[in-house]
Amino acid sequence: MKVIVTGGAGFIGGNFIHYYLAAHPDDRVVCIDKLTYAGNLSTLAPVMENENFRFVKLDICDREGVFALFEEEKPDVVINFAAESHVDRSIENPEIFLRTNIIGTEVMMDACRRFGNIRYHQVSTDEVYGDLPLDRPDLFFTEETPIHTSSPYSSSKAGADLLVLAYHRTYGLPVTISRCSNNYGPYHFPEKLIPLMIANALADKPLPVYGKGINVRDWLYVEDHCKAIDLIIRKGRIGEVYNVGGHNEMRNIDIVKLICKELGKPESLITYVTDRKGHDMRYAIDPAKIHNELGWLPETTFADGIKKTIQWYLDNKEWWQEIISGEYRNYYEKMYGNR
Ligand code: NAD
Ligand code: DAU
Repeated sequence: MKVIVTGGAGFIGGNFIHYYLAAHPDDRVVCIDKLTYAGNLSTLAPVMENENFRFVKLDICDREGVFALFEEEKPDVVINFAAESHVDRSIENPEIFLRTNIIGTEVMMDACRRFGNIRYHQVSTDEVYGDLPLDRPDLFFTEETPIHTSSPYSSSKAGADLLVLAYHRTYGLPVTISRCSNNYGPYHFPEKLIPLMIANALADKPLPVYGKGINVRDWLYVEDHCKAIDLIIRKGRIGEVYNVGGHNEMRNIDIVKLICKELGKPESLITYVTDRKGHDMRYAIDPAKIHNELGWLPETTFADGIKKTIQWYLDNKEWWQEIISGEYRNYYEKMYGNR
């Protein structure tokens, strides 16, 4: 099978490529990535020499370039991970989110239609469902929960999801969508909560917790997400949405305290800063559908996953230290300087 993976130089796409090439050594993977600030070729260094892997620097909004690549590669499946993914950046500058996340999705699906009704999978997010109240632990996001977004990021992802379902109904494109909860693991860009706190704690810098730190996220080890997507592209029902999550809800403050404990750093590094605008309170996935239909279950517990992740950041300092020495410094100063 030949698979086009977009956004493979990013966190989840990169982990997916590592997982996929190991799990399916006879398949060919072609990665399209624009290499934005969030894309790092060093993430793909371990597979660059693999003869079943090809990297192409390309913007998913570049219709001509995408069509030319499809004509040359003739893929069987397309998995769209490419996106602007950081909520805080979307609050600062929504435009690029609408472009990449919506127009890019349209271009990729147009290419799938043009070159033989190719199987298309959209990597979406639980954020399209908005948030749940903290005082209703009985409520979870199911695939039937109405779309109800909070940020420009989640709105752009929801717009893309609606377009994907419309391409299925209108053109009969064979699509699926996965909506996953928060991922963590290796190669996670250090602007996001867990890698940011690990990097700052190791440098004895303040750990900026938004608001009171009581917002809840439902954390899943990234490899479990990759396995879910692999199952969906092989066995998922066409036209369906699958929620992906492992019932692992945690408050931000408890995650940050755990990281301090694991690294032997004092909790006095924790600094409460101005809250995120429109901050979602709680995400919690009901994964019953993917479990019942496809037999998927998460394999890594949070206790193991967070230890493995912290160890990875300790063992791969050059990967993230290079990132935080570049453009990221300006971003950090702008976002956290006067917060
Ligand atoms: P990321 O920001 O780490 O990586 C995004 C990748 O897409 C980067 O390599 C970037 O260079 C590339 N990219 C951006 N714009 C592009 C364009 N126009 N053309 C080609 N490539 C482009 O993101 P991530 O955290 O790995 O998320 C991947 C996908 O999973 C996204 O669609 C995101 O919405 C979704 N998702 C993420 C999480 C999470 O916890 N991180 C959870 C659920 C869903
Ligand atoms: O739920 C899936 C989503 O998870 C994905 O769709 C997004 O692409 C991904 O970025 C992630 O979004 P979040 O906004 O939940 O992740 P983030 O790591 O930015 O923040 C997690 C929580 O931690 C959130 O409540 C905000 C808080 N936070 C974050 C940062 C960066 C802080 O308290 N301090 C921080 O410095």
